[in-house]
Amino acid sequence: LAEHRVAVDDLLANPLWRADDVALAAPRDIYGTLQGQTRPNSKGMDMTYANERNPVTTAALALRVPTPAEIHPEEVDPLLHALHAAQPRWDMVPVERRAEIMTNAADLLEARREALLALLLREAHKTLGDAVAELREAVDFCRYYAIQATALMRPEMLPGPTGETNTLRLRGRGAFVCISPWNFPLAIFAGQVVAALVTGNSVAAKPAEQTVAIARAFVELLWEAGVPRDVVALMPGPGETVGAALVNHPLTAGVVFTGSTGVARHIYRSLAAKEGPIVPLIAETGGINAMIVDSTALVEQVVDAVIASAFRSAGQRCSALRLLCVQEEVVEEVMAMLGGAMQELTIGPAVDYATDVPPVIDAEAQATLLAQITRLEQGGARLLMRTPWPAEMQAMALTGGTEAGLVLRDDQRRHLHFVAPCIYAIDRIAQAREEIFGPVLQVVTWKADRLDTLMDDLNALGFGLTIGVQTRIDGRAAHIAARSRCGNVYVNRNMIGAVVGVQPFGGEGLSGTGPKAGGPHYLLRMVAEQAVTINT
Ligand code: SER
Repeated sequence: LAEHRVAVDDLLANPLWRADDVALAAPRDIYGTLQGQTRPNSKGMDMTYANERNPVTTAALALRVPTPAEIHPEEVDPLLHALHAAQPRWDMVPVERRAEIMTNAADLLEARREALLALLLREAHKTLGDAVAELREAVDFCRYYAIQATALMRPEMLPGPTGETNTLRLRGRGAFVCISPWNFPLAIFAGQVVAALVTGNSVAAKPAEQTVAIARAFVELLWEAGVPRDVVALMPGPGETVGAALVNHPLTAGVVFTGSTGVARHIYRSLAAKEGPIVPLIAETGGINAMIVDSTALVEQVVDAVIASAFRSAGQRCSALRLLCVQEEVVEEVMAMLGGAMQELTIGPAVDYATDVPPVIDAEAQATLLAQITRLEQGGARLLMRTPWPAEMQAMALTGGTEAGLVLRDDQRRHLHFVAPCIYAIDRIAQAREEIFGPVLQVVTWKADRLDTLMDDLNALGFGLTIGVQTRIDGRAAHIAARSRCGNVYVNRNMIGAVVGVQPFGGEGLSGTGPKAGGPHYLLRMVAEQAVTINT
């Protein structure tokens, strides 16, 4: 690091990192090298790349994340008026040009990858593997929506009687509000904003309070890519004040929200009650996602998929596995192997290369998870296994740590909040009443002749995001997919990491409104349609 000190100091002083500076701090080939080196760990899971420090990690350690100031709720009104005023001009820019700008943004994301990876590690506690996947997803969203918008928004001539021409055209709705979460602070933020922009809307972007620096980096990158400065505004601040002011504003033309079911409901009510036009809401919320394992499943594959789905990213994905449903005949075998794999997981800071399970996002998340674990136990759930803390972590932990959770102080005197991966046995599916957004898995068994009851019980939970199936009976996988109300069904693999344009992502019921992000219908919710009839 010493020889790169000047470059790193420059980064510290300058929130707008220049690609060349970053390249000095972290060699350009890191990303490319990783792409070829997704290595299995001792259990065959692709979680660990190399057990060594890495320049990206070092750069991340050295960065002090520049955090833009929150805006005051009273600033929302003038900002939305400005966005509203700027939108018609942006909407008149040909869609091909808007698409080109989003493609420029994708190129810039790739060019700035080291800085963005460092930021994802530093601000969002992403492991390097998760950060790389997220950066790729953000790039994919930019390119995919650019292509989709170009095809979708070309005016379409419609048939009509002689002497008349009919044209259907799509255009932006106005100032769109994008409210995004901290768990995918780059990919989901970018996906929402780019979708709204490329379809001709201006955008008020409200990122999660925990990950404002990443959001800022992306908005600045959009401006550099060619988005006019008055067409997208970053509006950091608490959901209760800034978010509420945005949602309630009469000039808000639509809302995209990713977060909890409760907040989505609240936004729905606010939109219904607000003055101004009736506007659409796209909400992507949580899930109590299940994996169904039958007696024909390959146990090694099951364990691999469970570990990745339940514990990767510390379980902080809306797609993550929460409820493992194992057929009685194989439960002993599955749990024995799962126990071995849980012992192998390495808990640690995200900036350590060997880490499988990073800290949860903040103190509040840890407190919520620990309280939920206590509630589980009070409700009769039995602890089956828990990953032990590494000895050095235990030695460095601040006082008050337990087997379930502990706190470390990192080299920058920030507190890191950990929750140990754990598995609890429950007797009935109905016991899994709430989404637990962390590395906590519940297990239930089912009898061979009760598959349909199991499906009914899962559907009765009301969520419908992801479901995993592990079976070697093709007809059974098809039957479960047909019976399930989930938006994403994954058979004989893990159930996380939906790829843009490949696995359009999103659910129904308590899990969201649709349309699916990264799918062919998403942009339609963001446009207004106009049919023009000319008597010639
Ligand atoms: N899109 C993410 C995934 O598929 C979920 O939040 O894992």
